[in-house]
Amino acid sequence: MKSWPFSASIIAAVLLTFSVAADQGRNNSPTAINFTSSVPSAGHLVLGMYEDAEWGQYAESIDKKSRRGLQHAIKATEFEGKAMTSQLITGPMDSGYDQILLVGLGNKNDKKSELQWQNIGGDALQKAVKAFKKAPVMAFDVPAKEAAHIAYGAKLGGYYFDKYYTEEKRQKHQDKITLVVPDRKDAKDFYTAELDPVANAIWYTRDMSNEPANVLYPQSFVERWTQHFKGMKNISLRVYDEEDMLAKGMGAIYGVGQGSQRPPRMMIVEYMAGRKGDAPVVLVGKGITFDTGGISIKDPKNMWNMKFDMSGAASTMGTVFALAGRNARVNVVGIAALAENMPSGNAQRPGDVVTSMSGKTIQIRSTDAEGRLVLADGMYYGDTTYDPALIVDLATLTGSASRALGKDYAALFTRHDELTRKFIDMGKFTGDEVWPLPLNDNHFKAIENKVADVMNSGPDAPGASAGAAFVGTFVRETTPWVHLDIAGVAWGDKTNPTKSSPGSTSFGIRLLNGYIQQYFEK
Ligand code: BES
Ligand code: MN
Ligand code: ZN
Repeated sequence: MKSWPFSASIIAAVLLTFSVAADQGRNNSPTAINFTSSVPSAGHLVLGMYEDAEWGQYAESIDKKSRRGLQHAIKATEFEGKAMTSQLITGPMDSGYDQILLVGLGNKNDKKSELQWQNIGGDALQKAVKAFKKAPVMAFDVPAKEAAHIAYGAKLGGYYFDKYYTEEKRQKHQDKITLVVPDRKDAKDFYTAELDPVANAIWYTRDMSNEPANVLYPQSFVERWTQHFKGMKNISLRVYDEEDMLAKGMGAIYGVGQGSQRPPRMMIVEYMAGRKGDAPVVLVGKGITFDTGGISIKDPKNMWNMKFDMSGAASTMGTVFALAGRNARVNVVGIAALAENMPSGNAQRPGDVVTSMSGKTIQIRSTDAEGRLVLADGMYYGDTTYDPALIVDLATLTGSASRALGKDYAALFTRHDELTRKFIDMGKFTGDEVWPLPLNDNHFKAIENKVADVMNSGPDAPGASAGAAFVGTFVRETTPWVHLDIAGVAWGDKTNPTKSSPGSTSFGIRLLNGYIQQYFEK
């Protein structure tokens, strides 16, 4: 294994000063999950129910106590117990409850996937919050693992971002979710060890992406993740500032950042808990904390959205956070390539030529094709420093990918076709779905340039493929590499069971956490 490249300036850069950022007054702590075995006897209750009167113990005892009042209510409302359906009923006489939200669990004999249990949990939580405006108590007579996945889904589905509301508008009722389950201890142990760290990673990542760009910029991104990683085992952090970038010849990321008052950063987190000497998985994220387009300035109409242009970087850090939280036995490195893309008297221009860390020169054709520039240095650094077993980049790279695949699939590109199927399958399994788009020699030809080695946009190729080819130019052909263009899926107002809040989806964490667990964890 290579020895890590330490230098005085790197060590100096790591010794960050912790300024209390302007946003830290209001926190947005992830919802806490409580497991208990005792059913409350009054108030509001969410009650999971299978089809065909296979109700489970909690429903049975409520039915008994209310002298068949529950049965009666079920008959009257024609509630069948199908998965993802629900029915709000008034608490039956003598049951003690004000209201009960019946939640369908489907047929008891049909095996459901982890994702289906998560969706049931998220859907139930969202409906309960709507109906009760209170922290819900949810009773599910299901085995421990299923219960844990319900809890996980509920925590994701209940995510909210209300820190900029005034106090009266903040959503206090979502502080805590209580799950009543038969195997309280097993559910809690499994949940705490395996799922809660991922849920927290997703909360932090969504928070980060949702933050406005006056609060979240390269340095504050670094400070926040540094806080989150503080005290975690097997973690080491390194941060390159603009001078380190110049010293290392990272002219591509430096050029993107040079127009901003908020200088670029490259944040590297190593999580080395696998076998010594095993090549790590390297994850590289596009971290444009705001993308105005630079001198090739964007249309103002949707420009505000470009605060999400750091979502790839956030999910990269989030994935490492999830793995470290689970104590996964694996070697992983996360790299966030951070810059703010602004027009100014010091900004780079179309036609400029920059030299990347790889030595390859790049002609800037559009300063709005900036994501691939920060990735050029991030990928080259990751590939050559770590000689990875797999390198994956996550980037809100092109409008083209988002037009092609919409909001349901991230676009996947690779030179290693055997990876395509594995990623598609893991996407289905985890809910972060991907679909392949082409990458071939023509796409690499399309970015050849007469002045420099390459140019940062290829007008004669589909935009998403040209972007992928550009990123691939900075990765050795022998390194297994997957490029995920998440421009369409990183954010949106569309809701689903595990996401009810508008904004960030934290796309990529579930996919990569699952992928690394399946193929790399020992
Ligand atoms: N951040 C944008 C891509 C984007 C666009 C993400 C819309 C989400 C929604 C990226 O930096 C960009 O501007 N890409 C250009 C590339 C072009 C100039 C070659 C694009 O897609 O138009
Ligand atoms: Mn852009
Ligand atoms: Zn961008």
